[in-house]
Amino acid sequence: MALDKTSPARYTITAALPYTNGPIHIGHLAGVYVPADIYARYLRGIGKDVVYVCGSDEHGVAIPMKAKKEGVSPKELIDKYHGIIKKSFQDFGISFDNYSRTSASIHHQTASDFFLKLYKQNDFMEETTAQLYDAEAGQFLADRFVVGTCPKCGYEEAYGDQCENCGSSLNATDLINPKSVLSGAVPSLKDTKHWFLPLDRYEDFLKSWILEGHKKDWKPNVYGQCKSWIDEGLKPRAVTRDLDWGIPVPLENAEGKVLYVWFDAPIGYISSTKEWASRENKDWEKYWKSPDTKLVHFIGKDNIVFHCIIFPSMLKAHGDYVLPENVPANEFLNLEGQKLSTSKNWAVWLHEYLEEFPDMQDVLRYTLTANAPETKDNDFTWKDFQARNNNELVAIFGNFVNRVVVLTHKYFDGQVPQHAKLNEDDLRILAELKKFPDTLADSLERYRFREASQELMNLARLGNKYLADEEPWKVIKEDPERVKSIIYIGLQVAAALSVLSEPFLPFTALKLKKMLALESEPDLSWTTIRSKESLLPAGTHLNKATLLFRKIEDNEIQKQLDKLEATKKANEKENSEIMDQKETISFEDFGRMDMRVGTVLEASKMPKTKKLMVIKVDTGLDVRTVVSGIAEDFKPEEIIGKQVTVLVNLAPRPLRGVESQGMILMTENADGKLVFLNPDEASVNNGSVIS
Ligand code: MF3
Ligand code: ZN
Repeated sequence: MALDKTSPARYTITAALPYTNGPIHIGHLAGVYVPADIYARYLRGIGKDVVYVCGSDEHGVAIPMKAKKEGVSPKELIDKYHGIIKKSFQDFGISFDNYSRTSASIHHQTASDFFLKLYKQNDFMEETTAQLYDAEAGQFLADRFVVGTCPKCGYEEAYGDQCENCGSSLNATDLINPKSVLSGAVPSLKDTKHWFLPLDRYEDFLKSWILEGHKKDWKPNVYGQCKSWIDEGLKPRAVTRDLDWGIPVPLENAEGKVLYVWFDAPIGYISSTKEWASRENKDWEKYWKSPDTKLVHFIGKDNIVFHCIIFPSMLKAHGDYVLPENVPANEFLNLEGQKLSTSKNWAVWLHEYLEEFPDMQDVLRYTLTANAPETKDNDFTWKDFQARNNNELVAIFGNFVNRVVVLTHKYFDGQVPQHAKLNEDDLRILAELKKFPDTLADSLERYRFREASQELMNLARLGNKYLADEEPWKVIKEDPERVKSIIYIGLQVAAALSVLSEPFLPFTALKLKKMLALESEPDLSWTTIRSKESLLPAGTHLNKATLLFRKIEDNEIQKQLDKLEATKKANEKENSEIMDQKETISFEDFGRMDMRVGTVLEASKMPKTKKLMVIKVDTGLDVRTVVSGIAEDFKPEEIIGKQVTVLVNLAPRPLRGVESQGMILMTENADGKLVFLNPDEASVNNGSVIS
């Protein structure tokens, strides 16, 4: 049985440290914090020794950049968002044992010590290399300070450390056409010294640990990403940066250099555990160093490389630490068909949700779990939210509990009746009931939270159907003795729900326990449900029935949709704003561009990409291949035969292994859709020069 599997002595559960450059939204909750919380609450529920830690990620270039935008100091910015984020977690019942922050001195100390240990063990390579430099801003450009074209997928807004389109992890110097985010300038190269973690040295370790060791138990999306990185060959990664925001490199002659945010942030899990341990009088080292500790990292898919490749290599190099047993990363949640975006305000912010739906945290927790992006990206829609609430939480769970408690008051003065002889149906319900802890545990142990949430609803369904079939409100007239049994059985299901729903719906579970006078019943737990004769004994006095859930009306949903519609409009308006004129160029500059009219002969989508299309164009000079990022706006068949304008003397460049020999000129129409710049006369010859 799932609950009795031999298991580790203790669990260390981590949830990705959120950046303090904005509040958190439903995507964060669905992807990381709710599943991690369900898992932690479940483990506590079955009596395990658990520490569940998180904290704010306050370093990295995003922070000073955002601070500048808001016109405040980085410190003011992190304090503000640390407060907002921490409160959102509390409000939604995310039961961290500790929520720390990477500006805490214990973290600075822990991260510096970690770095020094690796440094002393000669685990780093110290190298002076040419890095991108923005002379105008007087600053080196790494990570989010520089954007350019991803060499892997051709996405034009890739960052210096990662492409958000294809997920590749990058070095800033890999970008094609890099541009400074600070000044817009094309960066130059300048020498600077840094410390590198030679990931190539860990290839064998990673191969045997992940590729051989975790092929079966890691989620396919996580395993697949790891495999493709390892197969591609790992390169040394710089773990320091030229920045004035972060943890100073703890060496002499390292002025102006700080630890790379992705070096210090995961160490934050350790610092947060230390902070908790010193407060709670525990031994933190057991939770990180004992081989009988199970470490599990909950993250979103954009964090996989850092948690599966880089941090484990750091832990391995250090030598004292356990490695994660599992990294159940989720895919992304979209909102009404569009990618969630902080900068476009395309999100449901948690603090705003609570203003609209006060005391309805569990409804959001449940909806996000039932529809979690576990195996693929998923869409949150307000209609689905309403349906899950009205058809499941209200109509099944809430209805069942309310009926059985109200009837107990009506017929038995609120006292659990002594049952008469139980019939086959009653016994079947009791037998089914006893299976639920194991069924749920089986899903949860495999990180299938969606499945588990549906099993939980099946338990409510079992009770609801039983009452509907038995119709105690009718039977009471002819056979009041029978009704005692029906209500008794119904209450046993309600009691099981009050325990098993706790990880998913903590606020509701508490209300329900209070209603059933089970609040301080130490003997009722996940494990005892399976064997206990009576979960809610006859004679117990129940408290008044209160509603667990309420119906959500159409107008409430419409209000949310209207709000999103307004956001969309505002974004479109902003998008349509005219870009500033670029720097003046000479006539000769212009003359160097060779633009011709051509005709599209063939077009096909580049496999495994969203945006790229491989196009064959007759340019009049030749037939050549151009790779263009238009696949989201056009189907291949729509463009075949079209005349287009091609910049033919652009230096060829490879995109995903196909050489692109030119560029097709395009613009965006008012709706943000790409359109070609084509001659309106159909009779232009291919090869005609544009001048
Ligand atoms: N702040 C990062 C993000 O939001 C996550 C950091 S996770 C940690 O993507 F491992 F570094 F802590
Ligand atoms: Zn890419």
